[in-house]
Amino acid sequence: MDLNEQNREQWVSRVGFILAAAGSAIGLGNIWRFPYITGTGGGAVFLIVYLLAIFFIGYPIMVTEMTIGRKTQRNPIGAFKALAPNSPWWLVGALGVLSGFVILSYYSVVGGWSLAYIFKAIGGSFVTGTAFDELFIGQISATWGPIIWHFVFMAITIGIISAGVVKGIQKSVQILMPILFILLFVLVVRSLTLPGASKGVAFYLRPDFSLLTWRSVLNAVAQSFFTLSLGMGAMLTYGSYLSQKENIPDSALSVVGLDTLVAVLAGFAIFPAVFAFGFDPGAGAGLTFITLPAVFAEMPLGAFFGFLFFLLLSIAAVTSAISLLEVVVAYAVDELKMTRVSASIIIGLIVFVVGIPSSLGYSVLSDITFLGMDLLDTYDWISNCVFLPLGGLLTCIFAGYVWGSRNTAEEANKGEGSFKVGDFYSILLKVIVPIAIFIVMIFGILETLNAHFEWGLPFF
Ligand code: PHE
Repeated sequence: MDLNEQNREQWVSRVGFILAAAGSAIGLGNIWRFPYITGTGGGAVFLIVYLLAIFFIGYPIMVTEMTIGRKTQRNPIGAFKALAPNSPWWLVGALGVLSGFVILSYYSVVGGWSLAYIFKAIGGSFVTGTAFDELFIGQISATWGPIIWHFVFMAITIGIISAGVVKGIQKSVQILMPILFILLFVLVVRSLTLPGASKGVAFYLRPDFSLLTWRSVLNAVAQSFFTLSLGMGAMLTYGSYLSQKENIPDSALSVVGLDTLVAVLAGFAIFPAVFAFGFDPGAGAGLTFITLPAVFAEMPLGAFFGFLFFLLLSIAAVTSAISLLEVVVAYAVDELKMTRVSASIIIGLIVFVVGIPSSLGYSVLSDITFLGMDLLDTYDWISNCVFLPLGGLLTCIFAGYVWGSRNTAEEANKGEGSFKVGDFYSILLKVIVPIAIFIVMIFGILETLNAHFEWGLPFF
């Protein structure tokens, strides 16, 4: 195990760090969310805006977060305290820890569905095309089943995090990430070789600019945050286990590149298959859990490919969930002086309990809604439309103006690397990124309120 002078664990290799950060980034966001928002957002045009957002907004924030982490070698709260002592900036870190907690609580519920589907696929349930109903609606098992799977998912996450940064996180991603890439490759080949696949490819790649709406631009920017695990200190925490020798601009570029590759490939695994069997690509959040099982039910050897797909989704979800738990555990270990094992178990169990209502929102608690959303969507909305953009905005302002963009860039560029950040990065950090995030956040919130209260605001 490598330790630095503060007895803090460090990644054993550069590749280990990149895989861990890519594992955090690549998750349900890439395979579940990205395809469905691309499907509803107009396909190819959405993809173009998304790529711009990833490189001009996501990338600079990722560099910034990793840099603050590496510089301070601390959890998000400790990091802001170290760089700006006796000031309220630590609250930005606290917001991050809170976001990690909330996101993990419902992320684990969806991760649990994915685990359950692995077994449903093997058991042949997809043949009926009603897997979601069987799991979630109108039965006692619909209440307990998903909660048990949520528990299993959290138990796996706790197991990995309690083993530590090197023996837990790094070791698991070194095994799981290559499997993820292989599974994805197999599924893309299967999907593209189905008769009728080309209609799906055309939808995905031929831009129709008339489909570009203000709303899809907002969705693209918001998605770039979630998919890169930004705005809540996950990349900051992973950066805190990085040695001063490693170059951040290079590593962040690899992480962003891998995340984007997986999202784009997930589209190639899903759209051609959905079109080949005549389903609707714009089905929304149910695309993965309702439409795809129906697609697998029609496909030759569908049980096998369904199994592979949900295994892929589960692996992606686990390698992201561990980064969410790590943020909270790092805080408990650094600041509350808890041991890693007890922090992982205690926090993991609390997260499990907090997540239960979002699971029950599909059965006994389905009457409870907030702004017209069920409980899981509410958790998702608060974290993605409020917490993450706010965290990202404040992190940029902090790095750009309080710590100073020059200090941040200088610190980021330490270590050997072919790529350095410079003046353009400073401009992005100080002006462009904060303005873009601010607009997205305000309009995102207004849009939801406008739709719910029927204010009839122009423009939406
Ligand atoms: N990036 C993960 C995904 O795409 C989600 C995530 C968000 C993980 C924030 C950590 C922090 O699924």
